[in-house]
Amino acid sequence: MKISVIGATGYVGLVSGACLAELGHTVICYGRNKSAVANLKKGGVPIYEPGLSALVKKNIKAKRLIFTTDFEKTVKDSVAILISVGTPPLLNGKADLRAVYDVAEKVGQTMAEYKLIVDKSTVPVGTGQKVKNIIGKYYRGKFDVASCPEFLREGSAIHDFLNPYRVIIGVDNSRARKIMLDIFKPQKTEKLITNIESAELIKYASNTYLATKISFINEISSLCDLNGASVDEVARGMGLDERIGPSFLKAGVGYGGSCFPKDVSALKYLADSYGYEFKILKAVMQVNNNQRTVAVKKAQQMLGSLKGKSIGVLGLAFKQNTDDVRESAAVDVIKLLQKQGAKITAFDPVATERAKPNLTKVKYAKTAYQACKNQDLVVLVTEWPQFAKLNWKRIKNDMPKPRVVDGRNLLNPAKMEKLGFEYLSIGR
Ligand code: UGA
Repeated sequence: MKISVIGATGYVGLVSGACLAELGHTVICYGRNKSAVANLKKGGVPIYEPGLSALVKKNIKAKRLIFTTDFEKTVKDSVAILISVGTPPLLNGKADLRAVYDVAEKVGQTMAEYKLIVDKSTVPVGTGQKVKNIIGKYYRGKFDVASCPEFLREGSAIHDFLNPYRVIIGVDNSRARKIMLDIFKPQKTEKLITNIESAELIKYASNTYLATKISFINEISSLCDLNGASVDEVARGMGLDERIGPSFLKAGVGYGGSCFPKDVSALKYLADSYGYEFKILKAVMQVNNNQRTVAVKKAQQMLGSLKGKSIGVLGLAFKQNTDDVRESAAVDVIKLLQKQGAKITAFDPVATERAKPNLTKVKYAKTAYQACKNQDLVVLVTEWPQFAKLNWKRIKNDMPKPRVVDGRNLLNPAKMEKLGFEYLSIGR
């Protein structure tokens, strides 16, 4: 099937476009930015996502993936049009939907025959209906709107798209339903057909539930710090119960990224707009903000005042396997440490360049070893697996007094202590 993706230079758009092409569709990827599109045409991928560059190149070569800045042709040549543009938070927490509505308006002005317009962006309940109304103002013929939220994680986006837990299809008639089922026919997973509103809410409910799980285990970790239990053991014990499950129970400096913080505040805003107080979400946010300070308090526990102290920070990305630093706990922790007077040297395997505009007065090391050398303390804030594999004995020998605050519970406390580190982690 011929499918187009509007907003294909963005994260979800590009991954969705490349993966739909991989499923065998012909995908026309529209982007406004001429130089970004020119770069993509040559297979140049602007983000760090394992496997994406190879997948884009492969599907360009197979002529299933086409990049363009020609909006009219994009609309004309496709049956299904996927809207995949950003919905960043406004200052009050509400999702900014201007980009979605702009696309709807342009599609309505451009289309001349039946199209299925599919919302892939994360949007509040009711957006599908608004998109329908906007298009209907400009185009009087038949068309449909569907919601098909995306559940991919940065760092494992391609795997998540091609092997999803489920495909959610929000439609309001059989024609739209058939097209959506045809698009996802190659996916062997369960397809859940819902109305458009439910599909929109499933995305928010899923992300905010996962964020809740993280804040919950972070609260448990604070209790563990007070009573001698180990949050790793508690999480493992909880996770063995199938009804709870083991994932998203990793305690640490809290969640970040372009999705959880934005979606928690957007759902809270949506509930507020109905006059409904979503109490849990408020607590989830409070706990998450507080987790940033837990790492700083542990640093103070070890060093006393942080004024003038040299601290090596391992990690800048909001999680492993990405160069994304949006709402990164690492960036927040660095700022809090600096506020207490600490001097920071940081290292991240790929996110340094993206982090630089968000920080001041930070020295950037070329290797993790360099970031740790001669420091009063090392604070680990991103769960890159390679940090666990560092030669910690070498790091110990490079520090006048070896001390580590592990904000991601990545290292083994017993091993670190055996090596001679003064070591603190979260809830263990
Ligand atoms: C998240 C969801 O997991 C995806 O299903 C969803 O599609 C995506 O948002 C989106 O809405 O686009 P993502 O933000 O890429 O994906 O990353 P996650 O792996 O979910 O991690 C989010 C944050 O939670 C990270 O900062 C991570 O370090 C933190 N986290 C995760 C924990 O602190 N503990 C955990 O146990 C798991």
